[in-house]
Amino acid sequence: MTDPNFDLNRFRESLRETPLLEDEAGHDPFQLFARWYNEMEKAEIFQPTAMTLATVSEEGRPSARVVLLKEYGEEGFVFFTNYESRKGRELAATPHAALLFYWRELGRQIRIEGRVEKTDSETSFQYFASRPRGSQIGAWASAQSDTVESREEMDQRYREVEEKFRNEDPLPLPPFWGGYRLVPSRFEFWQERASRYHDRLVYDRIQENSWSLSRLNP
Ligand SMILES: Cc1cc2nc3c(=O)[nH]c(=O)nc-3n(C[C@H](O)[C@H](O)[C@H](O)COP(=O)(O)O)c2cc1C
Repeated sequence: MTDPNFDLNRFRESLRETPLLEDEAGHDPFQLFARWYNEMEKAEIFQPTAMTLATVSEEGRPSARVVLLKEYGEEGFVFFTNYESRKGRELAATPHAALLFYWRELGRQIRIEGRVEKTDSETSFQYFASRPRGSQIGAWASAQSDTVESREEMDQRYREVEEKFRNEDPLPLPPFWGGYRLVPSRFEFWQERASRYHDRLVYDRIQENSWSLSRLNP
């Protein structure tokens, strides 16, 4: 139940005005991420789990697109996609990526970098099966990132898949579809401050559970 005295705009404002200082930030970037994530949820901002995923082509060129964060924790940050898509091919060649969140209403940006691995197929299936039936059909029907002749051809393909799996619920997990987990080696938390004199704290992984903390100029 929402507290009738809760003022959403005032809450957002107060977060936007909170400096990001080393003492409060602490030594564990996962804890700081969780704290910002919880505040973001309370602040009801638009599409907060949409994150930019940057990968690298075989020629060493960057490419970026938005995907949705579906899970996070000390093991990493999970999103789901087509393994044969452009991003899938790029991650197969170079299993390193960068993620970016921008929560405008809170004046916050989070950059995360690390290696990327596939989730196990049970995890992928669990999530796949939880999606609406139409999305399951769409995942089967789409050779994501390949060219296609027309919208008609796409719609035809969708109907064929629909027909093929008429009696299955959920649909089976497509062999070319599933999750990736980015295991962070670096985080940067950016808090907007007055006069564009922002706070930037960077955590670099030194060992399994230990991180160095440094401050960057804005
Ligand atoms: C808000 C938003 C959320 C999206 N979420 C996903 C997602 O979770 N997984 C996905 O494969 N594509 C998602 N997309 C589409 C991707 O941005 C992209 O078009 C698609 O994955 C193909 O990218 P690629 O050709 O670089 O592989 C999303 C797009 C937007 C705008």
